[in-house]
Amino acid sequence: MIFSMENCIKKYFITTYGCQMNLHESEKIAGILTSLGYEEANSEVDADIIVFNTCCIRENAEDRAEGNIGALKQLKRKKKDLIIAVGGCMTQQPGFANELHQKFPFIDIIFGTHNLEDFANLLKRKLSSKKKIIDVLEKEGPIKEGTPKTRTSYPNAWVNITYGCNNFCTYCIVPYVRGRERSRKLEDVVNECKSLIKEGYKEITLLGQNVNSYGNDLKDTDFATLIREVSKIKGKFRLKFMTNHPKDFTEKLIIAISESDKVCHTVHLPVQAGSDRILKLMNRKYTRNDYFEKINLLRKYIPDVAITTDIMVGFPTETEEDFLDTVDLVEKVGFSGAFTFIYSKRDGTPAAKMDGQIDEEVSKRRIMKLIELQNSTNRKQSEEYLNKTIEILCEGFDEKKNMYLGRDTHGRMAYFSSQEDMIGQFVFVKILKTGGMSLMGELVR
Ligand code: SAH
Ligand code: SF4
Ligand code: F3S
Repeated sequence: MIFSMENCIKKYFITTYGCQMNLHESEKIAGILTSLGYEEANSEVDADIIVFNTCCIRENAEDRAEGNIGALKQLKRKKKDLIIAVGGCMTQQPGFANELHQKFPFIDIIFGTHNLEDFANLLKRKLSSKKKIIDVLEKEGPIKEGTPKTRTSYPNAWVNITYGCNNFCTYCIVPYVRGRERSRKLEDVVNECKSLIKEGYKEITLLGQNVNSYGNDLKDTDFATLIREVSKIKGKFRLKFMTNHPKDFTEKLIIAISESDKVCHTVHLPVQAGSDRILKLMNRKYTRNDYFEKINLLRKYIPDVAITTDIMVGFPTETEEDFLDTVDLVEKVGFSGAFTFIYSKRDGTPAAKMDGQIDEEVSKRRIMKLIELQNSTNRKQSEEYLNKTIEILCEGFDEKKNMYLGRDTHGRMAYFSSQEDMIGQFVFVKILKTGGMSLMGELVR
């Protein structure tokens, strides 16, 4: 009898919800599975193990994950050996793992954010017994170094610098599902970045819920120092980081950014709201004036900086006047991009218990107004690119447009045609056409 190797190799399929942090954590799950001999499957149907790495930042993130998990019931019935694992922020909420087990008894492994690095053991336990594994640790442990990673975002590479969050913004679930803030050692971060550049990565994105408080739990270091150290690594590459918190965004850091030839001239500085009353209720620890001061300082040291933000509408008790303060702030700053969200009530957070929850219809109208305002700013900013030549890092190929794409130092996306594969190369593109957020151009030799 002839056996084909194809049939012996086990395959994995991972679906990720949520932020970059979670995408990177899925790269760790993929790395662990790769080290166990698994290969990536093209679809769920081809997989021997399906992993859902979930998010609970807003209700719709949870709904999507639950919908997709539920849809696997038939596949699991047909394929008895298929393993379904669910982990991430959603399962980390108190009592949620059991709830999920009741709702979807066919899930084989339920794990949390604090034992993701232990996934190999969880899987081995499952493979050696018929029992379901429900293992969610209540508390975070020390940082584990050395987890293998199967990276998926070349030429960019994500690098964790902090885990967890200490800020407790009143609307936010993250501190409850990710634990207290812990910083990786500076040398561990720098060494990982060095190897990545050696391997050929062209862009590094440092990750943390609040990268600006990096080092608060370490001796003699801070985020500005880290930026300077990573910038010293030889070779041409771009350095990015997210997310910043206005309360910890210092002049020292702005100077470090301005003096680095690696850090991109784009800063994501989530403002959330433009009303002082709402900012206070959100426990953001800055006022709109403080925010304007940070923007002025940034533009003083880095005049061409592109600033992007996150904004929320419909926080409990938000009045029309509060909302107009947000509109006013958005008009005054002139963001280069804004992620807009409707407040979503998260059980266990202080805001969930506040009186004055806002009607969905009111929030929808408010978010539409913000989106329109931001779209018009995007269009105006894009037009300024017309006939200019910009340097972009080519990130990928768009099958639909049949064009390569990449971003400039300001994070603006540009498309261009090329016969050769350009992914991972820095190229100059002359912009010939502008759209809402994106630009079209031709390669300049
Ligand atoms: N640590 C980062 C990212 C947090 S999550 C930061 O502080 O910026 C990303 C964004 O989701 C937040 O900036 C916020 O705008 C939004 N968000 C967080 N909790 C939310 C909630 N309960 N409802 C709606 N949006 C929320
Ligand atoms: Fe959530 Fe605030 Fe922490 Fe960001 S800084 S993760 S919004 S608590
Ligand atoms: Fe979601 Fe967890 Fe990130 S809640 S946004 S995946 S930290």
